[in-house]
Amino acid sequence: MYPEFEEFFSPRQLMYRAGASAEVGRVLREWGVTPGRVFVVADQVVEELGGLEALKRGLTEQGHEYEVFAHIAGEPNDDIVERATAAARAFAPQAIVGVGGGSALDSAKLVNYLTVSGQQLSELVGAIPSLPGFLPMALVPTTVGTGSEATRVAMFSVQGMKRAVVCRQFLPVVAALDPDLVANLPGPVVAATALDALAHAIESMQSTNRNAFTMLVGGEAARIIFARLRAAALDGDAAAKGDLLYAAYLGGLALNAGVVLGHSLSYVVASRQGLSHGSGCALALPYTMAYNSAVEPELNRKIAELVTGDPDADLEQLSQEIATLTGEVALPTSMAATGLDPARIPELVAEVIESFPRPNNPVEITTERLTRLLEHMHTGDVAAAWAAMREEGA
Ligand SMILES: NC(=O)c1ccc[n+]([C@@H]2O[C@H](COP(=O)([O-])OP(=O)(O)OC[C@H]3O[C@@H](n4cnc5c(N)ncnc54)[C@H](O)[C@@H]3O)[C@@H](O)[C@H]2O)c1
Ligand SMILES: [Fe+2]
Repeated sequence: MYPEFEEFFSPRQLMYRAGASAEVGRVLREWGVTPGRVFVVADQVVEELGGLEALKRGLTEQGHEYEVFAHIAGEPNDDIVERATAAARAFAPQAIVGVGGGSALDSAKLVNYLTVSGQQLSELVGAIPSLPGFLPMALVPTTVGTGSEATRVAMFSVQGMKRAVVCRQFLPVVAALDPDLVANLPGPVVAATALDALAHAIESMQSTNRNAFTMLVGGEAARIIFARLRAAALDGDAAAKGDLLYAAYLGGLALNAGVVLGHSLSYVVASRQGLSHGSGCALALPYTMAYNSAVEPELNRKIAELVTGDPDADLEQLSQEIATLTGEVALPTSMAATGLDPARIPELVAEVIESFPRPNNPVEITTERLTRLLEHMHTGDVAAAWAAMREEGA
């Protein structure tokens, strides 16, 4: 028998096909949303590029009225979410649709919650309770990264401080993955967001909360991204971008196990150096793999095999290849390359431990071990990081 597990959450319906966004109005009706008012929370750039047209057409064909709030530009904060919520309350919708990257999808989740609860964004902290009357929701991703359409999480900032809230109602009725919407996604956005998804996939496999299901989806997500990122980011291959859209969804499902040290490192480095979330995750990933390698060797071997398909693959070699891939898609592979002063390493270590602890990290996060790791992450020397972590033991 497989090891038992308590829970695995996912959207009720997944659609993955070209033109899926045009079907959202129909699918919402099939899930019991009678023709009525639909509030759309969307990314500003996606709207400007015409990415909402198929969705709007499909809503109208199904007899829905809609109002579009397409002002999401970057990570949601109290200002934008309160504005969107005020518009939603005035419109009194029966359903909410989010369209965009993680920022727009998380905004849609938050607008839904606040519209129903009557609260303000700053009141939301940590695990928040399910609400009677939460509106049916469809989420349509247009980046290939967060997998937010498959998660219980919403991230935002309040007065500059990053926060995550968790609610199982944030899982949508339908996640509509439409490869047409990512066909023209610019190479740098493809690179950063897909490497965020790769970090979700691999970190979740190192999480102590992993289970048979999260290993399955995490391994497959990582395998696809590893195989297809170059074609998508460097050659502009639209089919490869569509593959990454699917992989990012799988990576979102893998987040049922939670991410580990790498995401904490990404937060503290990215916030100081003005990097995107995905750039920070990509930089930290090979080092996270090294830090967490002091677990049962069979797990390391299994992760390497799932990602590469090679039963003899080795996790250290895989982490080197991920660093190489990150450099090839023109993202930083050392903290030095981001301009970070090494004198700030103690401050980074303290912030990871105090503000972004990871009880599910398989190896305890200590000041000494993390400091040694970051010295090597500063110079971008993956091999030295592995050697140092081996020397330290678990
Ligand atoms: N909810 C979750 O489970 C979860 C998980 C990880 C990260 N996040 C959060 O998600 C956010 C990051 O999301 P993201 O990486 O998708 O970035 P994003 O949503 O901020 O979008 C990145 C950029 O790409 C642009 N863009 C989006 N789609 C486009 C398209 N089709 N064509 C051209 N440009 C397009 C946007 O306008 C923006 O400038 C962060 O706030 C992060 O904290 C959430
Ligand atoms: Fe992430």
